[in-house]
Amino acid sequence: MFDFGDGKTNSLTMDKPHPVSLLDTGVQGVISHPLDRVDGPLKVSGSATYSAEYQIDGLAHGVLVGAKIGHGKIVSVDADAVKSLPGVIDVVTDFDTFIKVPQQGGETGAPTQGVKEIDYFGQIVAIVLAESFEAAREAAQLLPITYEKSEGTYDFAAHRDEADKPSDAMIPAHYTQGDVDQAMTDADVTVDLTYITPSQNSAAMEPHASIAVWEDDALTLYSSHQMPTSGAQQLAKSLGISAKKVRIIARYIGGGFGSKLGIAPESVAAAIAAKQLGRPVKAVMARTQVFDATVRRSNTEQRVRLAAGRDGKLTAIGHDSLTSNLASEEYFEPVGIGTHFLYAGENRSITHDMVRLNLLLSGSMRAPGEAVGMVGLECAMDELAEKLGMDPIALRKVNDTQTDPEKQVPHSSRQLSRALDDGARLFGWDKRHAKPAIQREGEWLIGMGVASATRANMLQQSSAKVEIHPDGSATVSSAMTDIGTGSYTILAQIASEILGIPVETITMSLGDTNDPPAAGSGGSWGAGSAGSAVYLACEMLRSNLAKAMDVPEDSLTLKDGMAIGDNRSRAIGDLVGKGMEATGEIKPGKQEKETTQASYGAHFAEVGVNVVTGEVRVRRMLGIFAAGRVLNAKTARSQCLGGMTFGIGTALTEDLIHDTRDGKLVNRDLAEYHVPVNADVPQLEVHFIDERDIHANPIHAKGIGELGIAGAAAAVVNAIYNACGVRVRDMPITCDKLL
Ligand code: MOS
Repeated sequence: MFDFGDGKTNSLTMDKPHPVSLLDTGVQGVISHPLDRVDGPLKVSGSATYSAEYQIDGLAHGVLVGAKIGHGKIVSVDADAVKSLPGVIDVVTDFDTFIKVPQQGGETGAPTQGVKEIDYFGQIVAIVLAESFEAAREAAQLLPITYEKSEGTYDFAAHRDEADKPSDAMIPAHYTQGDVDQAMTDADVTVDLTYITPSQNSAAMEPHASIAVWEDDALTLYSSHQMPTSGAQQLAKSLGISAKKVRIIARYIGGGFGSKLGIAPESVAAAIAAKQLGRPVKAVMARTQVFDATVRRSNTEQRVRLAAGRDGKLTAIGHDSLTSNLASEEYFEPVGIGTHFLYAGENRSITHDMVRLNLLLSGSMRAPGEAVGMVGLECAMDELAEKLGMDPIALRKVNDTQTDPEKQVPHSSRQLSRALDDGARLFGWDKRHAKPAIQREGEWLIGMGVASATRANMLQQSSAKVEIHPDGSATVSSAMTDIGTGSYTILAQIASEILGIPVETITMSLGDTNDPPAAGSGGSWGAGSAGSAVYLACEMLRSNLAKAMDVPEDSLTLKDGMAIGDNRSRAIGDLVGKGMEATGEIKPGKQEKETTQASYGAHFAEVGVNVVTGEVRVRRMLGIFAAGRVLNAKTARSQCLGGMTFGIGTALTEDLIHDTRDGKLVNRDLAEYHVPVNADVPQLEVHFIDERDIHANPIHAKGIGELGIAGAAAAVVNAIYNACGVRVRDMPITCDKLL
């Protein structure tokens, strides 16, 4: 995806540790500071332009139509029946490619004449175009479609015995080491438990939206995407055109949480319809369509087996999961991703099998793997601790390890025990009663729970360009995105720190595939990857500024727009002539194999359980995290607050329900699908442990976005048990399950 060769690129492959970082030697003093978001004023004043808000001349409005059967064929679409309605322009159905829209990086089928096969209820089958949104919506509701139904598989419980092994993906589908069965037989203490988590929806605030504009054979798509660079490639493939002919612009994104990693149906529909109509087309998914037809997190059934000696040392870990997806899909929720490296233990079985269902595509959502996998692992650890008569923190510390128990390589940086200890002290863990249902306040039983936090760290090939202008200001540009996470701000901070250029004079350009390619925002790799690209561009500029000053690099100081060295000082703008630019590019390398990289932490929760109603109220939570360098204390904290909130959702409220008769989603909006709201979220406290990871990247930061999620739900579940003595292993824990 990269084509450099301009002599202006500073490229680094992470084959070796990178012990020295210019972020530690910079004197601008802006890195890590809790700076307000540079895009904040634009957002709160409503002047940040989101995808659906671009004003384009001659725009036709498109409304998508979803299938009304769960499995079968389309016999006919009677477009003529609605074309005569006022304002209606056309009905486009030529996109078989819709049903094959892959979650990430996969192939899409080529467009054919009309959608024929229906794989799930709500699958997008047509787009109705009109002069107004209202006219398009009316026609979409009236569009007559004749179907031929066939038998479908909609019920996980009924088909769970037909699970098969999916292809290996980011982790192997099946991994075994030693003999878990034997270790279970031999061990002093064991647990063998099954945990259930339901399907979930990302529930991003901004619905998926695209405006497609063709100029000759080139497409510009204003669209809400986490990864525009790969999105453009994916879209080009599904349209059968060259990736060079597709430009995606995604300046502001109202959250993605995984649902905007791949292209969604509205992107393809808008592009195809705009081409056929010969005019720009806007397609915004209704909230119900986002639920019906983008992506879900799979439900999971997890069997967790743990075997330990009296000292708590694990001799075996088994984490065998069932998930679900469409018959045509290989993506599986990587339930055991964290189980691979979190705890020591010689005998291991971590498997993923999949049940093929005619339900919406399942794919990545908010910490795919750990978010639900650590419900199983970390609740089972709590149950094991109780059986051992051990404190749950002590049990985790006994099994902490600095060596990857499977790959036998060192962890790049890991402060799990420290997080557990510091967190316990800050939270007041010593006030917890080991025995459940002891502490009571009126109708409320009070309890505390703990869980480890871990999230795999990833680096993805990314690039960025930085230009210093003659007036001393700078521009940073990259096809990286800011999905509400703070990328605009942290990337400006990195450039500012290294170049000594005040943040407020740095212009950011993100979310445009015309800018240098980047991996975008996903998997918590965004800051580390794009941040390293910006770092490398600035490293090269710094070197060029030293040459322009004629001073050795190590005696050059850049601060407040001035270059200082050899007892001289010049304005940085005066050193750059007509302007100076450099491109930075980071690539993953051998460090990925030579170390196991993950962020760590610990979650603590205190809950009240009402003895009359079974209602659970989270009273307070504390998360403590070690994720390498914190680039901005405020945006990092916000990421963790959001993550912990998702943990509350997984434990208590989120439950995507399909009708087992036809797979139709029952709760397909934010009124019926419950993400935690303010009233559900009490005092959350976030702490960071200072850390640098020299194996991860030159900025020494690891992923933080999804760390706050991983383990958070388990801490709540464990606190519920401690409060009332009832173990619920079927998420979410609604009142009925406690009575
Ligand atoms: Mo994330 S679920 O990789 O956006």
